[in-house]
Amino acid sequence: MGAAPPGKPVSASRVTISQLMQPEHANTLGNVHGGWIMKLMDEAGALACMRHAQQRVVTLVVDQLIFQQPILIGDMVTITAEVSYAGRTSMEAEVRVVAENPITGQRTHTNKAFIVYVALDEDGKPISVPPLIPENDRQRERVREAQARQAYRTAQRASSGLGNPGP
Ligand SMILES: CC(C)(COP(=O)(O)OP(=O)(O)OC[C@H]1O[C@@H](n2cnc3c(N)ncnc32)[C@H](O)[C@@H]1OP(=O)(O)O)[C@@H](O)C(=O)NCCC(=O)NCCS
Repeated sequence: MGAAPPGKPVSASRVTISQLMQPEHANTLGNVHGGWIMKLMDEAGALACMRHAQQRVVTLVVDQLIFQQPILIGDMVTITAEVSYAGRTSMEAEVRVVAENPITGQRTHTNKAFIVYVALDEDGKPISVPPLIPENDRQRERVREAQARQAYRTAQRASSGLGNPGP
């Protein structure tokens, strides 16, 4: 067995994506389609975890995602993703969405989600990832919270029946 990969700080894999919301991103009400935001969030979280692991990753779990306020066509959406926890082969990313009217400068924090990814080797099997090095008290606290979330998810996994053949 090879040496364990060295730890990497949170800032080394942080990802920020900005995009202007165009008419092709609209839902039937004329606001931004939630599915488009979910796609961008998943991409940003996956990129942060790929940068951390330096491996391909797949999305495994998306925690609660609330659309409390609409995002408007013409807004600039900025998505920030940071690795919030690294297990053996799994990682959690905290993904935040801010919508900004680029004319007035008014900014609204519209969404946040925790998304879990698993790093895969060339054969599509889970592969170990570097430990995460938190760089401040907020990140250290977030790691503790993420450990509790991951413990809850894995307990849920055991009772979900998912992965078993259906009836
Ligand atoms: C990701 C995948 C390869 C993991 O396979 P698996 O058989 O569960 O692998 P393991 O049991 O070794 O688990 C791998 C890691 O995922 C974690 N994990 C697995 N199921 C989990 C769940 N429901 N919740 C939280 N973590 C979970 C395990 O705890 C482990 O983490 P660790 O190594 O950091 O301790 C498999 O579930 C898969 O292929 N899923 C489909 C992914 C995909 O296609 N996503 C796109 C959506 S269509």
